[in-house]
Amino acid sequence: MSWQGVIHQYRDYLPFDADVQIVTLNEGNTPLVAAPRLAELIAPGANLRLFLKYEGLNPTGSFKDRGMTAAITQAVAEGSKTVICASTGNTAASAAAYAARAGLRCLVLVPEGKIALGKLAACLAYGADVISIDGSFDEGLDMVRAIVERQPVTLVNSINPWRLEGQKTGSFEIIDQLGGQAPDWHCLPVGNAGNISAYWMGYKQYGKGLPRVLGGQATGSAPIVTGKVVEKPETLATAIRIGNPARWRQALEALDESDGIITAVTDEKILESWHLLAKREGVFVEPASATGVAALKQQIERGAIDPTNKTAVCVLTGHGLKDPGTAVDQATPPISMPADIDALENYLTS
Ligand code: F0G
Repeated sequence: MSWQGVIHQYRDYLPFDADVQIVTLNEGNTPLVAAPRLAELIAPGANLRLFLKYEGLNPTGSFKDRGMTAAITQAVAEGSKTVICASTGNTAASAAAYAARAGLRCLVLVPEGKIALGKLAACLAYGADVISIDGSFDEGLDMVRAIVERQPVTLVNSINPWRLEGQKTGSFEIIDQLGGQAPDWHCLPVGNAGNISAYWMGYKQYGKGLPRVLGGQATGSAPIVTGKVVEKPETLATAIRIGNPARWRQALEALDESDGIITAVTDEKILESWHLLAKREGVFVEPASATGVAALKQQIERGAIDPTNKTAVCVLTGHGLKDPGTAVDQATPPISMPADIDALENYLTS
C-alpha cells in the first residue's frame, strides 16, 4: 500500500481512538538526503555522515503538516467547527490547508509585514481568515490563548498536545531511514520550541537510541540561549522571530536529557548555510531552515562538537519557495542579454 500519512504509518505510537477519521494530505515520508559535499566542507577529513531531513517537501511545504494532521484530526473528532492559531506563517498555512480539507473554519493571526510571501499566498489560497496584527508572533499567541478561553474554537499552535503527537513521527522516520538507529546529533532551528520538544518525545518513545540535540536560534531572537524573554525579536529568518517560546520548558528538558546544546547564530551565518545548502547540495530551503546547519558548522568550528565518524541529521523545516523575497534579495540578479546566439556564445566563453 502506498504511503497514507504519518498517523496511518505510526498509528501504534499515537493515542487516537480506534474509530477516528483521519484528516491527512499524506504528509511525512520526506527524504533523508545525504550531504557529503557539505559534510566535507564543514568538517574536512572527519568522515562526518551528514543527512538533511527535507521537511520542506511536506504537502504545504513545511514540517508543520506532521503535527497538523494530528491536531485537525482530533479537532474534528471532538466536534470542533473552528480552529485558530498565531503564526510566523508556516503553522498558518498548514492549519489552513488541513482545516480546508476537513471543512473547518480557520483563523490565522500573523505579524504584519513579517510573514514571507509564499506563506501568505498559501493561507489566502486555502481560504483561511488571515488576520494581520500590528504586533509580534508572541502577542498573537497571547491573543489566541485568550480567545479560546472565551469562545468555542480550537487552538492549533503547538501548545495543543496533538501537534507534538503528530510531529514526533519525524523522529520515527529518521530512525527508520537510518536503518533502525538514532543519529549522534540531531540539529534543528528553534522558534516556539514545539519541534525540538516533539522530536525528543519521539526519540524517547521509539526506544531505538537517543541523539544529542543541537538547537539553533537566531542571535536577535534567542531567548532560550540567553535565558531571557526577548521583547522585540529580530531576524531575517522570520519563521523563528519569536521572543517567548511556548514550549521553552520542554526544550530545556530535551537539551538537558540529551546532553544537548542550544546556540545562537547570526543572520549572516544563517544565510551562509542557506547558500551552502542550495549551491553545494542543491537543496533550497527558507532561511530559518538553515539554522540547524549553521549551528552545527559553528559548534564544530568552536570545537564544541567533534564530528569525527559521527552521524548528524539536520532538519530542514521549510521549502525555499516559502520566502522567494529573501531568495531574490540575496542572489546575484539574472544576466540580461539580447535574444541572440552570438551574445550567448560570447558570454559562455568570456
Ligand atoms: N523552521 C521553520 C521554517 C518554522 O516555520 C518554524 C516555526 C521553526 C523552524 C521553529 O519551529 O517553533 O517548533 O521551534 N514556525 C512557527 C510558525 C512558529 O508559526 O509557523 P518551532
